[in-house]
Amino acid sequence: MTFLLGKRESVGQFGASIQESEELVSALENSVMTIVHQIVNVLNWGLYMILVVGGAGYIGSHLVKELVEKEEVIVLDNLSTGYRRLVDEQAVFVQGDLGNKADLEPIFEKYPIQAVMHFAANSLVGESVVNPLKYYQNNVAATLTLLETMLKYNVKNFIFSSTAATYGIPNVELITEDYPTNPINPYGRSKLMIEQILADFASAYGLNYVVLRYFNAAGAYESGEIGEDHNPETHLIPIVLQHLLGQRDKISVFGTDYNTPDGTCIRDYIHVTDLAKAHILALEALLTGKKKTAIYNLGNGLGYSVKKVIETCEKVTGRKAVIEYTDRRPGDPARLVASSQKIYEELGWKAEYSLEQIIESAWKWHQWKGTKWSSCP
Ligand SMILES: NC(=O)c1ccc[n+]([C@@H]2O[C@H](COP(=O)([O-])OP(=O)(O)OC[C@H]3O[C@@H](n4cnc5c(N)ncnc54)[C@H](O)[C@@H]3O)[C@@H](O)[C@H]2O)c1
Repeated sequence: MTFLLGKRESVGQFGASIQESEELVSALENSVMTIVHQIVNVLNWGLYMILVVGGAGYIGSHLVKELVEKEEVIVLDNLSTGYRRLVDEQAVFVQGDLGNKADLEPIFEKYPIQAVMHFAANSLVGESVVNPLKYYQNNVAATLTLLETMLKYNVKNFIFSSTAATYGIPNVELITEDYPTNPINPYGRSKLMIEQILADFASAYGLNYVVLRYFNAAGAYESGEIGEDHNPETHLIPIVLQHLLGQRDKISVFGTDYNTPDGTCIRDYIHVTDLAKAHILALEALLTGKKKTAIYNLGNGLGYSVKKVIETCEKVTGRKAVIEYTDRRPGDPARLVASSQKIYEELGWKAEYSLEQIIESAWKWHQWKGTKWSSCP
């Protein structure tokens, strides 16, 4: 009996060790496959092209500037809010719509696309409330067409521009990626819907993706020759600089009674070149197989109040702003500041530019734009 039990035990132990060996072999096989995959990808780096959708827009054009130094790049943009002249000359440019298969398919037929970076969207919160159809059509339905086309051509790497608006009105000092998402407008919801679709596509079709949730993109390319030009402009730094250039009578500050040190809202500003660099790290992580799926916040981790931003603009430009203090706007959280610890730990990224450097670069761009933009092709 003891013998049998012992035998049984030893058979059990032997059985367990067979199972462990099988697991070990399978783990080794997986590691070898990952390494082979990484080598193939690294060798192929440069033979493939990266499709940047929305690459003629503010953030997309800055990414393209950085990416063309490493990769062959093709930009697809319908120029609804972007500008052809923002696109670096080294990139191939196609004017077309991401929701239109007739525009997409020839690109995937003709070029060896390895990954898609998707910046194209409508992104005015107020407009999304009065015209949600436009937002769900362009940000969600059109993106589905892009994803469907990618899958048809077996392109499985995707980087998506998401937003802090997916969090809604958070109640924490630093927002981490696991903070519950609860968007409060159609714009934020349209972005969250795509995040959810991506998770489903990863499980069902093996899509690899990185979602980057930006906080407030700001600043301009170092040379000052490309930068932010939204119409209408809703972002604080360009609005203040336009005012200081005499293009607006005054600046309105909405609410001075928030629970913040100076009573005005606090936001997290990130230089657009810092954003571009995070995209390149995310792309490398996908192409080398280091990451299959990930969601990262992109912010400075440092909040600045509206008053502080205006003061810094005054300091950088040496000009004095005329400020009108008015009531709070509905739906403005007191504080929105990112923790970017996760992307620092996993990909080694952190924001490099200070608020002053962000504003200096934006000021250079606004001055350049004021004198040369209208005469550019
Ligand atoms: N600017 C910010 O602070 C900020 C913050 C969070 C998230 N985002 C997101 O980052 C992305 C880029 O923002 P941005 O500030 O550069 O905006 P942008 O308007 O300057 O750029 C968007 C680009 O996409 C193009 N586009 C729009 N719809 C298209 C379509 N159907 N087909 C082809 N091209 C199309 C536009 O012409 C434009 O060139 C957006 O997805 C936005 O939601 C921006």
